[in-house]
Amino acid sequence: MLEVLAVLVTALLVPADAERAVVRGAVRLGALFAVHGAPAEAGARCGPVREHYGIQRVEATLRALDAINADGSLLPGLQLGAELRDSCWAPSTALRETIELVRDAIAPARARQHSPAASAANCTSQEDAPASPLLGVLGPGASSAAVQVQNLLQLFSIPQVSYSATSRELSDRARFGTFFRVVPSDRHQARLLVALLRAHNWTYVHALHTDESYGQSGMAAFREEAARGGVCVAREEALRAAPGPREVEAALRRLNGGPRVAVCWCEGRTARALLDSMAREPYLRLNLIASDGWADRRDVVDGLEPHARGALTLRIRSPYLHDFDDYYRTLSPHTNTRNPWFRVRSLPNSTS
Ligand SMILES: *[C@@H]1O[C@H](CO)[C@@H](O)[C@H](O)[C@H]1NC(C)=O
Ligand SMILES: *[C@@H]1O[C@H](CO)[C@@H](O)[C@H](O)[C@H]1NC(C)=O
Repeated sequence: MLEVLAVLVTALLVPADAERAVVRGAVRLGALFAVHGAPAEAGARCGPVREHYGIQRVEATLRALDAINADGSLLPGLQLGAELRDSCWAPSTALRETIELVRDAIAPARARQHSPAASAANCTSQEDAPASPLLGVLGPGASSAAVQVQNLLQLFSIPQVSYSATSRELSDRARFGTFFRVVPSDRHQARLLVALLRAHNWTYVHALHTDESYGQSGMAAFREEAARGGVCVAREEALRAAPGPREVEAALRRLNGGPRVAVCWCEGRTARALLDSMAREPYLRLNLIASDGWADRRDVVDGLEPHARGALTLRIRSPYLHDFDDYYRTLSPHTNTRNPWFRVRSLPNSTS
């Protein structure tokens, strides 16, 4: 709670200069996406724009809103609006952006006086209109950020629906009263991991996890399921979300000897740091069995593909949307003005 207060105070004193995408409507949903990657260190600027889990999620949301608003049978007579903000894959940024959303909802007059920076996205016309009621907030994606955002939203009884925060602790109704999600809790993923290990007779393994909500809560679930399923964990190592090479190598050295298979309940950046160290020190190589923090993310393996060979990763099943590809390919930085992040980088030649 102290952290919430500290950020709340900062946000009230310093107007945010963050960009946002706004769809006007009679009511509004807030939405948080990690359009930019995490800052390299605390207090630094956000990382580079992420296409796959950043820009594409923003576009998928805008397109879903178009479809809902175009269908007269879904919300007859009501235009659904949204305000999409960038959480930079950092809990503190997610919290600050949520405060902006909530502040506009609870004190619209004050918010209008205080947001000169919205001009970056040329939102001046929105500034004159009163903020429409905030129905709820979608996201953010990372469990650690979702926990922070929920601590604030539940004070105002504002519902929050995450699209990818799987951490098991978020199922606790007593602590997270207005949190909902459209993905299963990590309890199920832990069961699947154990079943996968057993199917390969890998019943003696090492375990690695990222030392924050997602990794800790996932590893706790994995430990329970492993004990129940007869899988022994030889040694466990926790790594920071974006560990340095020395930290990773020291952990891998401690795992050297014993089983060659390691379960990795890691955030994408942690998994990438592991692959990177194994590329430099091949004798420390482990066969990684990873959770959905890695899943099919290209930014995790980019340039390190040979060293990821043999790894197995889990991903939540979601059908491929071919008509999203068609929509995405028609977008151009010159005409797609409603997405302020789209023009930041040149159009990539790949989609997924
Ligand atoms: C911003 O909006 C104003 C008023 O609608 C318009 O005249 C101006 O051209 C816009 N600027 C940009 C950069 O789109
Ligand atoms: C696992 O062990 C059992 C019993 O020893 C054996 O029948 C099975 O083929 C093994 N499976 C794999 C994938 O090695």
